[in-house]
Amino acid sequence: MLSRTKTILRDLGNGLIMRRSSVEDVDALSAFNGMIHREDDADEQRLIAWTRDLLTRQHPTFHADDFIIIEESATGRIVSSMNLIPQTWSYEGIKFGVGRPELVGTLPEYRGKGLVRMQFDEIHQWCIERDLPVQIITGIPYFYRQFGYEMALEFVGRRFGYEAQVPKLEEGEQEKYVLRPAVEADIPFIANVYEHAIQRHMVRCERTLEIFKYELLEQDRNAAHYFDTLVIEDVSGEAVGYLQHYSYLTRTGLTAVWYELKQGVSWLDVTPSVVRYLWNKGQELAKRDGRTSTSFGFIGGSHHPVYQALGEDLPTIISPYAYQVRVPDVAGFLNHIKPALEKRLAESIAAGHSREIRVSFYREGVRIVIEKGKLTTIEKWTPVTKDDEGDIAFPDRTFLQMLFGYRSYEELSTSFVECWCGGEEVRALMSILFPKKQSDVFPMA
Ligand SMILES: CC(C)(COP(=O)(O)OP(=O)(O)OC[C@H]1O[C@@H](n2cnc3c(N)ncnc32)[C@H](O)[C@@H]1OP(=O)(O)O)[C@@H](O)C(=O)NCCC(=O)NCCS
Repeated sequence: MLSRTKTILRDLGNGLIMRRSSVEDVDALSAFNGMIHREDDADEQRLIAWTRDLLTRQHPTFHADDFIIIEESATGRIVSSMNLIPQTWSYEGIKFGVGRPELVGTLPEYRGKGLVRMQFDEIHQWCIERDLPVQIITGIPYFYRQFGYEMALEFVGRRFGYEAQVPKLEEGEQEKYVLRPAVEADIPFIANVYEHAIQRHMVRCERTLEIFKYELLEQDRNAAHYFDTLVIEDVSGEAVGYLQHYSYLTRTGLTAVWYELKQGVSWLDVTPSVVRYLWNKGQELAKRDGRTSTSFGFIGGSHHPVYQALGEDLPTIISPYAYQVRVPDVAGFLNHIKPALEKRLAESIAAGHSREIRVSFYREGVRIVIEKGKLTTIEKWTPVTKDDEGDIAFPDRTFLQMLFGYRSYEELSTSFVECWCGGEEVRALMSILFPKKQSDVFPMA
């Protein structure tokens, strides 16, 4: 059944082979993903369109062979699959490669046979080969812990308001801001506003003009991660910001996935027009799809200027879910972000400080040597129970929560009794090196 263009990765025995995808898989794989991951008919179409995009369009970082497929060699039937969407993120402005596994699924009759585990082994090898030292996934709870992931970074906190919170225009009052669909010529403006916005975040997804272009112009409008993009203009026609929202109603209404203004523009001034736009567009989509729209919302993480601007006019608060994060070489990653760590030290009460910190993860660990404020050594270190337990300890991969600013040392030690610290000097230094900080990463799909 295999055509010559297909790259076989492994013969798994029992009539199954693991191979890389190709453009020729587009029909079978999009149907497979639609069927496995669907919530309803419309959702299935969006999954199909997304898979087709990945396999056939000019995605900035994904290639047609970046899916893994496990198939029955006799019939060619796809029984399990996942992919890897490479991207660049940054930590306090220091760029690093990220591998995003997505569309992980197995046919019901083949589940529980370790097929996904085998694909993760392969994908993690790809990440080493492609210099993607961090992997993230936004999927179902717990499952990915089994492949080395830890819930360690905030993901899509949101807030909602209802008709009563939609500000009314006075009789005869004109909108001060209008929203119009973005066009190619708007991309540099949008990229600038995005760049300004992500400065609020410790961890960011880096978007090039090529990526914005793909997202705005290349993607199928029905694809799962396609969002309508609108430029917000004042009455003189000057662009002041942009809004991205789903092109269909989600749970109870229309939700914005990204709303940002350029520097120097008042959120208090612009937001009422944006809320009215979202509400009215929600009503329009409800009519189109034969549904009712009773809310408007913003995905802005746990903190966002629009939450400040609207306050109690966004009464429903949905706490963020979490990215599941894997960093197989913690010492290597810490070395990579060393300038950010040294900057934190230099700007802290411990500027110029010296001492060694042995950070235990129980089965492994890292040794960090600080000399006069410089991190002169960051290396793997293995704790020895009783004889050399280290200076501070984090069970399993919980340290990743602190590394990505998701939880403080105090929060971790409250949740995990085996998270302890040998003294206040180490606690203070670790909290300076790895403070709790806000991030709301909008990943590439
Ligand atoms: C979740 C899913 C991908 C698992 O696929 P699978 O091929 O059965 O996975 P594996 O057999 O490789 O499972 C690896 C391990 O996870 C366990 N596992 C399987 N499903 C699990 C689940 N939902 N939660 C927790 N553990 C699970 C398996 O028992 C196995 O454990 P073991 O290695 O100790 O034996 C599959 O059930 C599926 O396609 N579900 C519907 C789509 C979906 O939810 N995908 C994830 C989207 S983020």
